[in-house]
Amino acid sequence: MENENHRETLATRLGFLLLSAGCAVGLGNVWRFPYIVGKYGGGIFVFLYLFFLIVLGLPVLMIELAIGRAGRANLVGATEKLSEGRHTRLWGTLFRCTFFGNACLMMYYTSVSGWLIAYATNFLTGDLMKVTGPEAVGNYFGELLASPGRQTGYMLLAVAVSTLLCCGSLRNTVERSVKYMMSALFLMMLVLIVNSFYMPNAAEGLKFYLTPNWQNFSSHIWETVFAAWGQAFFTLSLGVGSMTIFGSYIGWKKPLITEASHIVVLDTAVALAAGLIIFPICASYGVDVGGGPGLIFVSLPNLFQQMPGGSFWGFLFFAFLSLAALTTIVAVFENMIAFLMDECKFSRPSAALTVGIGIAVLSMPCVLGPNLLKSFQPLGEGSGVLDLEDFIVSQNLLPLGSLLMALFCTLSAGWGRKGFEAEINAALRKPMPSAFFFYCRWILPIIILIVFAMGYYHTFRS
Ligand code: ALA
Repeated sequence: MENENHRETLATRLGFLLLSAGCAVGLGNVWRFPYIVGKYGGGIFVFLYLFFLIVLGLPVLMIELAIGRAGRANLVGATEKLSEGRHTRLWGTLFRCTFFGNACLMMYYTSVSGWLIAYATNFLTGDLMKVTGPEAVGNYFGELLASPGRQTGYMLLAVAVSTLLCCGSLRNTVERSVKYMMSALFLMMLVLIVNSFYMPNAAEGLKFYLTPNWQNFSSHIWETVFAAWGQAFFTLSLGVGSMTIFGSYIGWKKPLITEASHIVVLDTAVALAAGLIIFPICASYGVDVGGGPGLIFVSLPNLFQQMPGGSFWGFLFFAFLSLAALTTIVAVFENMIAFLMDECKFSRPSAALTVGIGIAVLSMPCVLGPNLLKSFQPLGEGSGVLDLEDFIVSQNLLPLGSLLMALFCTLSAGWGRKGFEAEINAALRKPMPSAFFFYCRWILPIIILIVFAMGYYHTFRS
């Protein structure tokens, strides 16, 4: 069924929730969240992350969904329509720039997803069970990174699967496949949490994860705040219009605060669950929680090798991570495809192919980062293309794109408070207090700007 503008719609509300949660749930929850929690001292980071999800994540998500639902188009089309001639070209140009955030995100997302697929496949074949000992596992990961050919192959696999899924219709292929993938993901997580709780030092791992370490925090306050702030935008895929497009597929029967809260709760539950899986394992097997992005790839295979049925658990764990990553790629691709269909009148298959080929080419610098481009260390010793791309996206494009959206919705030079208020209040029995709109106009942008400035200062001052 198509809506009044001949746009495709989703078949069910569950489809909308799982598709938008699928866009949110991904590497940010299961790969980035645990290693940043480890790096920034456990419980205190978790607290800050939850704080930013409530004060920034939830309102920005409502803003994105409101723009999409009212404008019935992708971010650029919707904002051009809603501005009704008030600086339309300016808003269109600014939001076209934020749209490239999607491509930047995918430039490294596809490579990390490729590593996950490589690990899942190699646990399934039993190859990773033969690589015994921490050093050998470290070398195994190093060899994967050092091989442009293998990395390219796995990255292309992730891109090809996502492109194929997006070639079908929104309802029959994208909605249905993401529904199955997300359901499989939740089931796998439950099994792995139960498994982790039976680890010998589970309590110690949970203590690190859930109780604040003030001493560690006091020496890195702004770095930790900056990291938690960036993670809140990253985990919900905010600021680049990914969520706007899902807003354009929903109706007016449910209040946006309800839809947004469901997405935030689902996303947060997966991130918290990932920690519940990983930290008891780390504590029980002496895995260094501060090991950075390699936490999963270098350390955890050692654990699976020591566990009864390790090949199966290893496969399950990495398959679960691959599914989470693929649902995000499909959802972000869907946003770019909708843009090409709405703005450039592409058919769905040609839009999907254009996006797939474009992203495969743009992913090459990240693939080549740890090998042919190894000498390029843009953010200090040991950093690489991936770190630079992640920094550009998480600490810059996503928060600044979100700031722009908040201003668009509340300034009279943009959509303006009246239209925004009506959209937020639709289907609500009691309208949102006016303090909410004041908050979106003044407080939210100020919080974003303060953390942005302080985070930059403290991260780069030395
Ligand atoms: N929100 C996506 C994730 O968490 C980008 O992986």
